[in-house]
Amino acid sequence: MSTKIVLFSDIHEHAVFSPRALLDKRLFGLLNSTFCRGGSYRMERTDAAVRTILNDLKPDVIVFSGDAVSTSDPREFDSALNRLRPLVDSGIPILFSPGNHDRYVRDRTCREGFERFRIALTRSCPLEWPAVYETEELRFAVIDCARPFNPVLSCGQMSPETASFLESEAAKSDPRPLVCVGHFPLRNNALLEFRHRLIGSARATALLENGSIALSLAGHVHLPSQSLDARGRGEIIAGSLTKWDILREITFDGGVFTVRDLASDGTPR
Ligand SMILES: [Fe+2]
Repeated sequence: MSTKIVLFSDIHEHAVFSPRALLDKRLFGLLNSTFCRGGSYRMERTDAAVRTILNDLKPDVIVFSGDAVSTSDPREFDSALNRLRPLVDSGIPILFSPGNHDRYVRDRTCREGFERFRIALTRSCPLEWPAVYETEELRFAVIDCARPFNPVLSCGQMSPETASFLESEAAKSDPRPLVCVGHFPLRNNALLEFRHRLIGSARATALLENGSIALSLAGHVHLPSQSLDARGRGEIIAGSLTKWDILREITFDGGVFTVRDLASDGTPR
C-alpha cells in the first residue's frame, strides 16, 4: 500500500480592479499583481496542472497550500474556482489552507467571496480549520493561519488554539505519521524575512523539529524548496505553480516520503 499526495500552491489569480480597492490594501495588491508579477505568473499553468493531476497523477489526496488569488476580490475567487473545478468534480479530497492573499482585507464582499470559494473548493472534503483528515496510512492536520494585516506585512499568525491542536494531535499514540498542511512554513526559513513570517509558530516549529510532525507542506514562499531527512521527513515548500511551473508529487510508501517534481504538463523537472 502507498499514498500519493499532489501538492501545489500560490496560483495567485491576477488582481482585478474595484473602486473599493482605493480604500484599502487592495490597491497595493493590484499594483503588485499588475506591475511586479505581471506576465511572469502564467494562469494557464493552473489549467495544465489540473489536467495533469486528473489524467496522469491520479493522487489519493490533493493539497493546495493557499494564495488562490491576489487581492481577495470575489471575481478573482470565481476565476480560480473555475480553473480548479475539475479537481472538485473528481471527488479527490482537496486539503486547502488559505493564504494571506485569500484573506487580504476585511471588506465584507471579499470575505463572502472567500467563503463561497472555500465551501465550493472543499466540497468533497469539508473541514473546519483546524481539522484532521485521516487516510489509512497518514493523518493530515489542516490549519489556517491567514489573517488580514496592514499593507506592509504579509505575515501569518498561528493562534494558541491552533498550536494546542497540533500538540494534542502530535501527542496521540497513532502509528500514522502526522502531516501538517498550512500556507506558512513552520521551519525558520532564511527566505522568510520579518515581513513574511508566521507569528506564534514556535510551538509548531518545535513539533516539526522533534519529529512529532513528520512532514510540513506549505506555500507562501514562491521559490520552491525543501528540507528533508533520509526518510523524507521535514518540510516541503511547494513554490508557486504559476510562477515556477511546479507541482510536487509526494509518495508515502514503507514509512518513507519520496518527492518528485513535475512541471504543470507532467514532465519531470
Ligand atoms: Fe503567495
